[in-house]
Amino acid sequence: MKVKFTNLYKLIPEKKKIINKINLLIKKSNFVGGQEVKNFEKNFAKFVGARFCVSLGNGTDALEIAIMSLNLKKGSEVIIPVNTWISTAEAIQNNGYKIIFCDVDLNDYSICIKDLKKKITRKTSAIIAVHLYGNPTDMNLIKKIVKGKKIKIIEDCAQAHGSRIKNKHVGTFGDVGTFSFFPGKNLGAFGDGGAIVTNSKSIAEFSERVRNHGALKKYDHKFSGRNSRLDTLQAAVLNIKLKNYNKAISKRNSLAKVYFKELKKVKKLDLYNLKKNYIYTFHQFVVRTSNRNKLQEYLNKNGVSTMIHYPYMLNELNFFPGANLRKAKHLGKKILSLPISEEHSFKEIKYISNCIKNFFSK
Ligand SMILES: Cc1ncc(COP(=O)(O)O)c(C=O)c1O
Repeated sequence: MKVKFTNLYKLIPEKKKIINKINLLIKKSNFVGGQEVKNFEKNFAKFVGARFCVSLGNGTDALEIAIMSLNLKKGSEVIIPVNTWISTAEAIQNNGYKIIFCDVDLNDYSICIKDLKKKITRKTSAIIAVHLYGNPTDMNLIKKIVKGKKIKIIEDCAQAHGSRIKNKHVGTFGDVGTFSFFPGKNLGAFGDGGAIVTNSKSIAEFSERVRNHGALKKYDHKFSGRNSRLDTLQAAVLNIKLKNYNKAISKRNSLAKVYFKELKKVKKLDLYNLKKNYIYTFHQFVVRTSNRNKLQEYLNKNGVSTMIHYPYMLNELNFFPGANLRKAKHLGKKILSLPISEEHSFKEIKYISNCIKNFFSK
């Protein structure tokens, strides 16, 4: 059997509806702004349960603008988990602040709380929690830790559309949440896209201005911003995809259950330790083993394609600060992302699980 890691074309719901909508927008020459974008912001704010959603050009800009909106002191330190996509770190450095890398919780790859407590100093102005792989970070605990301190919280939800803690959507616990709609994300557009969500009117208005050269409307420039708008066609695609998204989350959860059932007894393989009352969205299903390269090779030989998110930790890149992190050390050599998406079948997931069991029984 051959199992692809993802098939983006198969993942598109209601293809005819999307194509008709795009045709209509092209006929009307609606390419930037307009009702589709406004509708998406309204729909996504409602989905997340935030007062405001400001759509943007991509998730990297969302992080950069989120940090900008907090107006942190010069020389501030911003703490992030070391296992994340490069954007989380870039956004800090591009704003002129200092990145402080924090260790990883091996139960679910969220930020290590024990190390986080150690990393907070008088210079810490913000923490960016990353809900990596769709696994929610314990935001209530982080809020408890920063209580009474002047520390802002950003949540990087680029991989966590629909992830919740006790029914509260990630991205709504801190000051601002950021999202990516890159095509490969669980909720992906037909190109780049991003957004911030917040309950703060001033953060929302500031972000709205930044994305449009400092202006809310034509020639209303209040400061020097940038161009980072979600375009109309992407917003239209996302409006249709959002309506179908809860179904996608349920399917991913059902498939994850198969992996857990089949693989929990494999001694040399570590799975996520799921928390009660959390809703996971399984953007990735990541397993960990010291035999990773051999396992990946074996799966490949048996027709199963896998990926690695990520092959190195960000403190290993020479243009970022170093850090001595016990749990994250060599993590990039042990993790493996198995295929999971709403278009995979139960049969495929069972096949992959059997291949893994065969590999470890040898
Ligand atoms: C954790 C995380 N943060 C930020 C981003 C950046 O999003 P984008 O690719 O839309 O700029 C991504 C997407 O790759 C991501 O996975």
